[in-house]
Amino acid sequence: MPPAADEPGFTRDGPLLYNLVYCSRAAPGMDAAGVAAIIATARRNNAIHGITGMLVFGSGVFFQWLEGPRESVLRLMGLIQRDARHERVVMLSETEESRERLFPDWDMEWVGAEHIRDVLADAIDAAGQASNVAALRQLLIEVEATALLSRS
Ligand SMILES: Cc1cc2nc3c(=O)[nH]c(=O)nc-3n(C[C@H](O)[C@H](O)[C@H](O)COP(=O)(O)O)c2cc1C
Repeated sequence: MPPAADEPGFTRDGPLLYNLVYCSRAAPGMDAAGVAAIIATARRNNAIHGITGMLVFGSGVFFQWLEGPRESVLRLMGLIQRDARHERVVMLSETEESRERLFPDWDMEWVGAEHIRDVLADAIDAAGQASNVAALRQLLIEVEATALLSRS
């Protein structure tokens, strides 16, 4: 059963979610097996801490979307920032708002860079809440601004 709207941290719009987006440069040698290992760890940990999101990898660049309770997301980001498997971590946005999760079924999903536009377009079509559509549009803008989508 969904939580009652008057429960702490919940409003009629949905739970209070901390949302963080960053991009980074993968360390030399990062490959599909390396990304799969990160995803396996993420699925195990994120489910426990109420974190959902997605990890995009392409052209040696990571782009990650994390959403969940503020403390959990910030604690995880502290670990990720110190991880030697990537460098030059650049924060793209940090927000906290009451809304439904954008990716409720993804403890952490690996999306290939070539699929990210389609994934976001589908999510925009499926999103009911105006605040989610706005968040997804912003995410699309941020993805476009990174080096992920090489135009070669
Ligand atoms: C690009 C990138 C994304 C990551 N994303 C996550 C994540 O979503 N969840 C997670 O638990 N660990 C993630 N990690 C791994 C963490 O940095 C850290 O190694 C891990 O949380 C430690 O978990 P463990 O103590 O269970 O091994 C990521 C690492 C990298 C390089």
